Amino acid sequence: MFFLLCLMGAIFLREVETVSQTAKSNYKPLIELIFQIFKKHSAITVVSTNDRFNDEIFELNSVNFSTTISLFQDVQELQPPKDVSYGFIIVSDNWEDILEMKKRARNGDLIVAVMEQQISVLMAFFMYAWNLKFKDIVIAQPGENGEVYAFDPFLNHTKKFGIRQVEEIDKFLTPKNYHGVTIKGTLFDTSPITVNVNGVFLGIDPMIIKTIEHCLNVTIETHVPYDGEQFGYKSQNGSATGAIGELYTNESEIAFNQIFVKEYGAPELTFTNIISDDCLCVIVPKASIIPKWTAIFYVFSNQFWIVIFFVVITAMIGLFIIRKYDIDRITKNIQNKHVYDHSWSTVCLDVWQALFNITYSYAFSSKYHNRLILGALFLYVLNINTLFQSSLVTVTTSQKRYPDINTMKQLVESNYHISTFSPSLADVFNNTRNPYMQKLSKRFVILHDESQRLPAFLTRRLKYSFLISMKQKGTQHIHIVQECVKSYRLAYLLHRNAYFLHDFNGIIAKVFESGFINKWNDMLKLNLSDMLKQNAYVEEHVEFPRPFTIIDLQTSFYILTLGLIISYIVFLFEYYSGRCYYVP
Ligand SMILES: *[C@@H]1O[C@H](CO)[C@@H](O)[C@H](O)[C@H]1NC(C)=O
Ligand SMILES: *[C@@H]1O[C@H](CO)[C@@H](O)[C@H](O)[C@H]1NC(C)=O
Ligand SMILES: *[C@@H]1O[C@H](CO)[C@@H](O)[C@H](O)[C@H]1NC(C)=O
Ligand SMILES: *[C@@H]1O[C@H](CO)[C@@H](O)[C@H](O)[C@H]1NC(C)=O
Ligand SMILES: *[C@@H]1O[C@H](CO)[C@@H](O)[C@H](O)[C@H]1NC(C)=O
Ligand SMILES: *[C@@H]1O[C@H](CO)[C@@H](O)[C@H](O)[C@H]1NC(C)=O
Ligand SMILES: *[C@@H]1O[C@H](CO)[C@@H](O)[C@H](O)[C@H]1NC(C)=O
Repeated sequence: MFFLLCLMGAIFLREVETVSQTAKSNYKPLIELIFQIFKKHSAITVVSTNDRFNDEIFELNSVNFSTTISLFQDVQELQPPKDVSYGFIIVSDNWEDILEMKKRARNGDLIVAVMEQQISVLMAFFMYAWNLKFKDIVIAQPGENGEVYAFDPFLNHTKKFGIRQVEEIDKFLTPKNYHGVTIKGTLFDTSPITVNVNGVFLGIDPMIIKTIEHCLNVTIETHVPYDGEQFGYKSQNGSATGAIGELYTNESEIAFNQIFVKEYGAPELTFTNIISDDCLCVIVPKASIIPKWTAIFYVFSNQFWIVIFFVVITAMIGLFIIRKYDIDRITKNIQNKHVYDHSWSTVCLDVWQALFNITYSYAFSSKYHNRLILGALFLYVLNINTLFQSSLVTVTTSQKRYPDINTMKQLVESNYHISTFSPSLADVFNNTRNPYMQKLSKRFVILHDESQRLPAFLTRRLKYSFLISMKQKGTQHIHIVQECVKSYRLAYLLHRNAYFLHDFNGIIAKVFESGFINKWNDMLKLNLSDMLKQNAYVEEHVEFPRPFTIIDLQTSFYILTLGLIISYIVFLFEYYSGRCYYVP
């Protein structure tokens, strides 16, 4: 239970306060100091059973400040805050209460404890708290000449301030200086995101480590996880491997490889601020190459072929109508019967001939509307033939592939099994109502052995788009499915109680906001380009102009052969049905 200050209460307290002003004024400088220290926080949480202190803090708040104050009687009732930045005050003589509050406050939040104790006792307490890795505690003593004690765990030094030395206290608490303390972390090669070049790591993660080292004056020692695993995972029986496992055994305090922010079944661990985001995508083999002989049909798109078809049909119908309803056919003495022949076979043949530029003068009469239709056809043919011939060169000289898989739907239809080597990704297809994802989850396998590699597998999009853009060997035949399975944010993983979490978060947030991540990404590409060039595959170089070979134009011969076969069959048919006579 907690009680929020309401205005009514404040007015009431003020009335009471005027009566005994002198008796309780000794908390006033202390409370003013507290408000100064917490001036950047949007709310203050107070744990106190001291009525005098409570009255005064509410009263001063209503007159000079207007912070939201939550009051708790017992530290056990305190809930860890989520989003709002709180300042914490505890009025108690019990050390355990202070530590309990520190535990319940968010990591790195400053706690001001109000108590009267000897300095030697305070120093012992500070050291005891630091043994439990608790820092950011300030102990203040009330009174006009009260004193304030703060502890720098890295120098093992307790500093004393006067109660009005607000600026000095502020300065002592910020900026943070870890005075070269060593923090152990894991870092391993996840090329091309973090790359080990001759023992030196390049990439965003090493750059962030360097930045943190510089800003906090801290020494970060990294090692590859001792068990040889990478990120590792926590299995259901509680044993953990890789970088995650080392966070449990305290062999390392932070895992400096970006990891997807998701549930790992490890409630003792938490994430730092976000470093970047990325998608989890499926890699599939590229679609197969279209056989050369069909190339001719890929000169135009399907829609274009349909339009051509309709134009030709329209031209035929037009010619048919012109011929059929031409009155001259009846009235005049006809010399050239062909131009009035409206049987479908003649009309079709005439249009075909015009389309292939082999028409004869007798096929069309010299009448105005006949000339018009012929002229229109020629104009059309001029465009289409030129387009066709120029596209034919491109299409026949380059390799064409069937369309690649780019959506989850196509992936479902493709029958690929999707694999991963990472057991912590076991749930990516779970908890979704998407029917395609549900179907894919049945075809999702977790492999334990590199030799079992399947053609379709899960990976970070950034990683493979980088490799593909660098034309690395082994990437020439793979394709990234454009629709991603899931998108994730990335951060570092560390123990929930890590004392440096708050300070690291501040630096990571600044790095992220200032856009360094993108800059470092570009830099990394430049840095790695020489190294990656050695492993790049050589592209099949197509030289232009190159002569057409018979292979390129094989389709024409297939069509010719087909035509000849059909003609031969028709010939045989006519021969045996008696329409053909041999006249000696
Ligand atoms: C608080 O307000 C009173 C009167 O409103 C003023 O005299 C006093 O200086 C103020 N104190 C602070 C710390 O601002
Ligand atoms: C810190 O200093 C005190 C004396 O001021 C000493 O007793 C203690 O051992 C020191 N602690 C560490 C970790 O050096
Ligand atoms: C960083 O820490 C080292 C080791 O304690 C110290 O010598 C150095 O003065 C510190 N640097 C700064 C800028 O505080
Ligand atoms: C790229 O190389 C330069 C010079 O060797 C180095 O200073 C920089 O940190 C490297 N950048 C990244 C992102 O590794
Ligand atoms: C827990 O399971 C892992 C395999 O998932 C196994 O290697 C390990 O021995 C098990 N540990 C215990 C304590 O049962
Ligand atoms: C690791 O450190 C944490 C806190 O620093 C502690 O609670 C935990 O017991 C330690 N684990 C081991 C195996 O030492
Ligand atoms: C995900 O779903 C599959 C079956 O649909 C199930 O076997 C597996 O245990 C689930 N994984 C998690 C982490 O929920």
